[in-house]
Amino acid sequence: MSSADDQKRAVGEAAAALVEDGMVVGLGTGTTAVWFVKALAARGLNLTCVATSQATADLATSLGLTVGELGETRTIDLTVDGADEIGPGLSLIKGAGAALLREKLVWEASRRSIVIADAAKVVPMLGGKFPLPIEVVAFGYKTTHARICDVLGEFDIGLAPRLRMKEGAPVKTDSGNLIYDAACGRIEEPALLAAALKSITGVVEHGLFLDLADLALIGGDTGVTTLEP
Ligand code: A5P
Repeated sequence: MSSADDQKRAVGEAAAALVEDGMVVGLGTGTTAVWFVKALAARGLNLTCVATSQATADLATSLGLTVGELGETRTIDLTVDGADEIGPGLSLIKGAGAALLREKLVWEASRRSIVIADAAKVVPMLGGKFPLPIEVVAFGYKTTHARICDVLGEFDIGLAPRLRMKEGAPVKTDSGNLIYDAACGRIEEPALLAAALKSITGVVEHGLFLDLADLALIGGDTGVTTLEP
């Protein structure tokens, strides 16, 4: 049986093989995206890249890739990124790596986006395995938390989201915001939940990526398989 890491490497390499010389490429964040970035750099193509986090920008630069700012280049041709859950229609939960805001900005600026993941990330319905990350501005975050709880309650999600912590301190995103992780259970109406969360002042972004992925490359014991929306 192949390990999750073997699968991540396989899909990262498969995605890198789809990149063409001269493209503007969005680089995802996380352990799977790292394999993509490494395989992409090894191809030695003439590319401009846009990174979804400082960590990815640092890795890409260290490997010799040219990294520009979002908006400096024309439209991004292709973005490749990981996910925490891949549900029906290639709906996604992303953000375990705290990069969801920049990731969504880059995905939305891309003509085509490919999600790469090991087989364990594929789920029949979003929400069962991973909490949903919700990025909030630091000012008034406890008030925002109360409003998020009210909205989640309307979706029968009773558990209060937990502030993401690391080494005793709240995690800060690359944009200086905080993250709440909401253990939602099964998310029956992701589009409605996405809209309701986005309507809360103080919520910057959430980890529901809906209608954004054009293709998924999924690792498995028999190699890489593809999924379409
Ligand atoms: C980063 O914020 C996330 O969206 C990652 O893309 C996602 O958590 C997948 O990460 P792994 O590839 O490490 O599982």
